Amino acid sequence: MTNKKEKTLKEHVESISRRYREHKANEGFQDPREYEAYFLYRTPATQAVLKKVLEHLKGKNLKTALELGSGPGSSYPVLKDLFFEKIVYIEKEAGFRREIDGVEWIVRNFLEEFDYPQAELVLYSYSLGELDLPAQLTTLKKGILATQKYMVIIEPGTPKGFETLLVARDFLIQNGLYIQAPCYHNAPCPKKNSPWCHFSERVQRTKLHRQLKGGSLGYEDEKYCYIIASLKPVSEKKFTILDTPKIEKHRLRMNLCTKNGMKIFECKANNKELFKTIKKKQWGENLNSDIISGVIPFF
Ligand SMILES: C[S@@+](CC[C@H](N)C(=O)[O-])C[C@H]1O[C@@H](n2cnc3c(N)ncnc32)[C@H](O)[C@@H]1O
Repeated sequence: MTNKKEKTLKEHVESISRRYREHKANEGFQDPREYEAYFLYRTPATQAVLKKVLEHLKGKNLKTALELGSGPGSSYPVLKDLFFEKIVYIEKEAGFRREIDGVEWIVRNFLEEFDYPQAELVLYSYSLGELDLPAQLTTLKKGILATQKYMVIIEPGTPKGFETLLVARDFLIQNGLYIQAPCYHNAPCPKKNSPWCHFSERVQRTKLHRQLKGGSLGYEDEKYCYIIASLKPVSEKKFTILDTPKIEKHRLRMNLCTKNGMKIFECKANNKELFKTIKKKQWGENLNSDIISGVIPFF
């Protein structure tokens, strides 16, 4: 890349970032080069988060996906790795459209009156929060009708992103869906009135990425919130670790998300087997109820 091109892309990255910071993303893209800039600077983080979130659906044998507000289709390699055969992207910005094998693009505002095509997985990746509340509920209603198995929503790991997710979570529950992750229950969110629920994924930066973002670190920590909802009741009994576990010499403590609220789980080092099993567990991972049954009575 020549220095001139690099500078121009960087400027575009800055103006896109500014619009997002000022919550003006709905103004849309203003220059054809912004599509490329967006793709180059956002794709690594989006893909890393998507990969992490969609790990929950590994082995579910899903073949069809619909993404609402797909941008440049950054989700494609991740979905492909999970064996999706048919992917439909609905995106209002025609400039993002590119030929990809097995992908159907619908260049359209998804708030217009039309039925979404059915898919086993319906995905909103960083798109729901760009809408005002009535528009969020309008698209969610249609998204639910299109969902054959799972709906996944990802938002930035900020208080605003979490707020968007909380509203969506309640709406999906009211409409008969079952929350499958990060909460394995439909009870009120234990983090509703405490610091927002979010997770973090470390993303390695390429040289180009460092130049575009103006940072010197070789990595960045992408903070995100998400929910996975299922049309069928969730049979798995798991508890998500909500913050970084505190490991001391003789004990380990972690905050777990349960249907009875956030619970502190403590394991003493003398419970050797259990301590060894769970001490490698990290923020965002989950504990299976089999592992801890008998140790904590309140679940
Ligand atoms: C932050 S980008 C996320 C893109 C992609 N999902 C990703 O994760 O990289 C949000 C995208 O949603 C699209 N979008 C927002 N509202 C939309 C609407 N009403 N109809 C269609 N696309 C929309 C925007 O044009 C933008 O491309």
